[in-house]
Amino acid sequence: MDGMSGCATLPPATSAEPSPPKGGTVALVGAGPGDPDLLTVRAQRLLGQAEVVFHDELVSDAILELLPSDVERVPVGKVKGRHSWTQDRINRALVDAARSGRRVVRLKGGDPSLFARAGEEIDYLRRHGIAAELVPGVTAALGCAASAGFPLTDRRHASTVVVVGGHAREGDAPPDWRRIAGPRRTIVVYMGLSNAGAIAAGLIGAGHDPATPAALVANATRANQRIATGRLAELGTIAARHAEDDPALIVIGDVVRLGPDWAPLEPAWTAAW
Ligand SMILES: C[S@@+](CC[C@H](N)C(=O)[O-])C[C@H]1O[C@@H](n2cnc3c(N)ncnc32)[C@H](O)[C@@H]1O
Repeated sequence: MDGMSGCATLPPATSAEPSPPKGGTVALVGAGPGDPDLLTVRAQRLLGQAEVVFHDELVSDAILELLPSDVERVPVGKVKGRHSWTQDRINRALVDAARSGRRVVRLKGGDPSLFARAGEEIDYLRRHGIAAELVPGVTAALGCAASAGFPLTDRRHASTVVVVGGHAREGDAPPDWRRIAGPRRTIVVYMGLSNAGAIAAGLIGAGHDPATPAALVANATRANQRIATGRLAELGTIAARHAEDDPALIVIGDVVRLGPDWAPLEPAWTAAW
């Protein structure tokens, strides 16, 4: 993608907009993978009405720039030189903001219900008498597939899509690769960049074909998008070439070959394993 054709402005709030209910309400809104054109109409409307927006670090600058200038922006994610807020602090801030009667948006990258702790936040809000509205967004897997130009299913290659988190929290068991490996499937790994070599080893050890095409898509749908392709066996090498600060998704499966960027590094992969 050469650049982004972002929407210029968000629809403004009108006096006819209903006030938030008494206990308060928070909209958990998916911002999509980065390109503002991929915001849903409902997301745009809620952002245009918001008085305070708590956003994580995955939300692109191009989307934040669309917010009206009088909206309070609260970055709660990790950015260089500053730690992210704890989940507890975010939960309490959302409740306080909702109780103050303001229109609150909790803006998350991609879709709020995939690897984004929406469940914990909704649970906390409800226990504190705050209504929560969940607004879906285009998740990274869909944004990456579209940007890279391949489908996630294809009746010739894959009838199953497995979505897995590649970065287990400390103390969590790693994914059971034996349940994930197998033919005729597309495996999508979120948060797997720093662990890519181990992910490939886990899948291959569980019987997945090392020659399966794989793609790494960084900053999908954004102006600085990058795509690298190769074989599962060389995933660690491919990942090592990418800066770890960028959000990146790994897609493993024969569908990757359908994309215009398919260019395996072979025969290097055979030598590396
Ligand atoms: C904490 S998860 C959040 C996922 C998000 N809720 C979603 O539905 O896309 C963060 C991971 O999503 C993936 N991701 C999010 N946005 C991305 C993008 N624009 N390009 C590539 N990967 C992205 C990366 O794997 C990143 O490490």
